[in-house]
Formats: sequence, C-alpha cells, structure tokens
Amino acid sequence: MRFSASLLLASLVLSALAKPYWRRQETDPTDPTDPTDPGGADGDGDGDDDTDADGNVPNLGDGNGIPDVSNATNPQCVPFYGVRDAILGGIFQGRCGDSARAAVRLAFHDAGTFSLALQALGDPTGAADGSMIWDPTEVTRTENNGLQTIVGILAPLPAQLGVSPGDILHLAGVLGVLACPGGPRVDAFVGRGLPLNTAPTGRLPNPDDPVPLLLAKFADMSFSVRSMVALIGAHTSGKQRFVDPARNGSSFDSTVDVWDVDFYGETAHGTSDPNVFMLDSDVNIAGNASTKAEFHRYIHNQPDWDEDYRAAHFQMSTLGYNVTTLINCTEIMPASINLTTLTINGTVDPTLLEAATQKYRAPWLVPSS
Ligand code: HEM
Ligand SMILES: *[C@@H]1O[C@H](CO)[C@@H](O)[C@H](O)[C@H]1NC(C)=O
Ligand SMILES: *[C@@H]1O[C@H](CO)[C@@H](O)[C@H](O)[C@H]1NC(C)=O
Ligand SMILES: *[C@@H]1O[C@H](CO)[C@@H](O)[C@H](O)[C@H]1NC(C)=O
Ligand SMILES: *[C@@H]1O[C@H](CO)[C@@H](O)[C@H](O)[C@H]1NC(C)=O
Ligand SMILES: *[C@@H]1O[C@H](CO)[C@@H](O)[C@H](O)[C@H]1NC(C)=O
Ligand SMILES: *[C@@H]1O[C@H](CO)[C@@H](O)[C@H](O)[C@H]1NC(C)=O
Ligand SMILES: *[C@@H]1O[C@H](CO)[C@@H](O)[C@H](O)[C@H]1NC(C)=O
Repeated sequence: MRFSASLLLASLVLSALAKPYWRRQETDPTDPTDPTDPGGADGDGDGDDDTDADGNVPNLGDGNGIPDVSNATNPQCVPFYGVRDAILGGIFQGRCGDSARAAVRLAFHDAGTFSLALQALGDPTGAADGSMIWDPTEVTRTENNGLQTIVGILAPLPAQLGVSPGDILHLAGVLGVLACPGGPRVDAFVGRGLPLNTAPTGRLPNPDDPVPLLLAKFADMSFSVRSMVALIGAHTSGKQRFVDPARNGSSFDSTVDVWDVDFYGETAHGTSDPNVFMLDSDVNIAGNASTKAEFHRYIHNQPDWDEDYRAAHFQMSTLGYNVTTLINCTEIMPASINLTTLTINGTVDPTLLEAATQKYRAPWLVPSS
C-alpha cells in the first residue's frame, strides 16, 4: 500500500505534537441535574445521552461522546484521530460554519463525477478520490464555483499529514455533516490511493436541470431516487452565493445552523422567512410527480432522513471504490448531537444548542474572545 509508510509517519508526527491550540480541557463538568444538559436520557447517571439512537453512536461514558486515540481498536485507524482533529478543530473549529458546509458540498462535487456509463465504456470516470483537491483545474470549473476557499484549505493536508487526497476530502465531508448539530454519524472509510485521473466534466447537476435529467444524472452516479432526495437534504445547512448574487449568503432553509428536516417542509410548502432562497431544482424535486412522495417522506421525519442520509452519503463517499478494499475507521467519529433534546415547542433553543456545542464539541472550539 502506497500510503502505509507515510501513514505510520503521520501517526508518529501527530502523536509527538504538543497539544494543538484547539485542544483544551472540557470546561463543562458533567451534571445530571443541570437543566441545560442536553442529554441524560439514557439513564446511566452521567448526564449524557450516550444512547445509540441511530444505531451508531459510541457509548464512551466519558461525557462528550468523543472517541480518543488511546481507545483505538483498529491500529490502521490510529493516524486518523489526528486527521479528524486537524479538520474538525483546525478547519471547522467545531462548528457548522462556512468551512463545514463547503466541505459537504465539496464531497458531492468530488464524488458526483462518478459515472456508471463511463465506467461501462472503460472511459476515465470520476470517483470519491479527492481529485478536487489534487488536480488544480477542477476547482476552476463553473460548476465548482464557491468551492475555491475550502479546496485551498484542504489541498495542502495530504502532503502535511501523509494521507491520500480522497481520504482527506471525504473525511472532511463526513465531519462537516457531524459539525452541524443534528448531523448523523456517517461511516468513515479510509484507504483510498491517489486519484487516477482528472474528473470528467458535465456530470454534476445544475439547478436548471429538469427533474428527469436530475434523476438520470443521479442514476448514472448509482443513486436511487430515494437516495437522491435524501442527499439533497444536505442543503439544510447550505447557502447560495452565485445563483442569485443579489441575495448572496441566503440559505436554503430558515435554520441553516442545524442539520434538520426544515429544508424539506419549507421547500415543499414555502416559508415566510425572507432570508430563505430556494433552488429551482429543489422546488421541482419537491413537486414533481416522479419525486414528490420521496421528498414528502422526510417532512417532520428526522429519523427516516437520518437513516437514509447516512446510507446515501456513505455510498457517495466510496463511489468508484470496492468498499471491501477500504478500511472502516468509523471509530474515530464523535457522537452526533441530538436535536430532539434541544427542541422546545418545535424550535431548537439557541441556549441549549450552544450548551450542547460547548459540551460535545469542546476540544475543537476556539475560545471566544
Ligand atoms: C439536484 C442536485 C443539486 C443541485 C442542482 C445543487 C446545486 C447547488 C447550488 C447551485 C448551490 C449554491 C452554490 C452557491 O451559489 O454558492 C449548492 C450549495 C450546496 N450544496 Fe448542492 N446541489 C445539489 C445536490 C447536493 C448534494 C447531493 C449535496 C451533498 C450531499 C449538496 C450540498 C450542498 C451544500 C452543503 C451547499 C452549500 C454550500 C455552502 O454553503 O458553501 N448539494 N448546491
Ligand atoms: C434523540 O433523542 C430522542 C429522545 O431521547 C430519541 O427519541 C431519538 O431517537 C434521538 N435521535 C437520534 C438521532 O439520536
Ligand atoms: C479509554 O482509555 C482510557 C485510558 O487511556 C481509559 O481510562 C478509558 O476508560 C477508556 N475508555 C473507554 C470507553 O474504553
Ligand atoms: C416532472 O416530471 C416529468 C416526468 O416525470 C417531466 O416530463 C417534467 O419535465 C418534470 N417537470 C419539471 C419541472 O422538471
Ligand atoms: C458574497 O459576499 C461575500 C462577503 O459578504 C463576498 O466576499 C463574496 O465575494 C460575495 N460573493 C458573491 C458571488 O457575490
Ligand atoms: C472487491 O474486493 C474483494 C476483495 O479484494 C473481491 O473479492 C471482490 O471480488 C471485489 N469486488 C468487485 C466488484 O470488484
Ligand atoms: C463500520 O464500523 C462501525 C463501527 O465502528 C459499524 O457500526 C458500521 O456498521 C461499519 N460499517 C460498515 C459498512 O461495515
Ligand atoms: C409552548 O407553547 C405553548 C402553547 O403555545 C405555551 O403555552 C408554552 O408556554 C410554550 N412553552 C415554552 C417553554 O415556550
């Protein structure tokens, strides 16, 4: 394996580093009676909700659901705890900000160039291979407008950390989801080699595409209708800048800082929030007879969306690879922040949300001045 020697080196370098600046002691002591404690529902008396509600949340009993490298079970995953911290701390600073949302979109634009048709012809196809942060021309394509900043930030990491571009880019994607409160814990696989080629053009969807063309493009990427509709829910934490520059910074739902299903309800039924911008493609998918039922499935239904999104994003993050040749390092992934426990009268409470972020993302937050 081309990267194994450098991975070992990276693990030595990372473990030799003094505590990076984003690592600091958790300041919020565990108190099961604290009314702002977002967890505690699992009844283990430590005040944390360590329950495994989505089938995939670590019960560490250490209060913040963050797996530590000292508890690594797969030696091949050891270096990736440091990579996790470099991305979640050094880049996202523990929050659902512009870098996190851009990393999620980047994961789609990297992997979404995969094509069953090209593969069948034996022609070069895209893959979840990190070519977006490896080939300097891809990010200059119009379809990738807005991704320049995150590409510039991630591009040096493969050389710095001795990890392949595909592993860096797709770890950033799954960690970007998790950085957004409510975002599920998508399986994190590593072991991708160097990208084989520059991704082909013309595969990615466009907001002007009619629904049948969108369906055809996603089918060629190997996604079902249901997976496509689950995946575009990533717009829950998205903003637009280039579709309507006059409304630069407007978001796709009224709750851009959380990973919830409001995107589905608001896109289907409208919203009075003037800051919300809807893509024609999202509105068409919400209303078209061929996709409407799948779209409506997720309205007020976070559990179903969680499950479908996790599966679809995992599929996306491994497109072009034989999964059995990759390594499952999901063990590095922190627990998801559960929105249910932060919701009062149907709205996520900002004070509870911040308390949960302080608690479950503590090691990566930058102290506010
Ligand atoms: C029908 C398919 C899709 C279309 C037409 C589409 C189109 C777009 C457009 C036009 C933007 C705004 C770019 C800008 O003006 O800055 C955007 C943003 C975004 N998209 Fe999509 N998208 C699609 C599917 C997806 C999928 C499958 C994902 C991820 C799983 C995704 C994730 C995002 C994210 C996170 C943003 C926000 C980026 C940011 O705030 O910086 N999109 N998308
Ligand atoms: C969130 O917590 C609620 C209440 O404890 C639980 O019913 C739900 O399944 C949890 N959801 C997730 C995604 O963990
Ligand atoms: C993780 O390892 C530490 C020692 O390094 C130990 O004290 C702790 O109990 C372990 N946690 C789990 C969940 O195994
Ligand atoms: C809705 O879907 C039908 C076929 O499924 C298609 O002919 C039509 O163009 C679609 N409408 C939009 C707005 O995409
Ligand atoms: C959007 O606004 C930001 C800052 O307000 C600016 O840096 C950026 O260039 C603007 N982008 C577009 C496409 O207008
Ligand atoms: C995937 O890899 C495994 C193990 O190397 C191999 O047995 C299997 O045939 C491969 N599957 C495909 C579709 O190439
Ligand atoms: C990857 O490992 C996690 C446990 O760390 C497990 O829950 C998950 O099912 C595994 N994923 C696959 C696709 O095998
Ligand atoms: C929730 O809404 C009900 C009815 O609108 C109201 O009586 C109650 O005070 C609200 N609770 C909180 C905590 O805001």
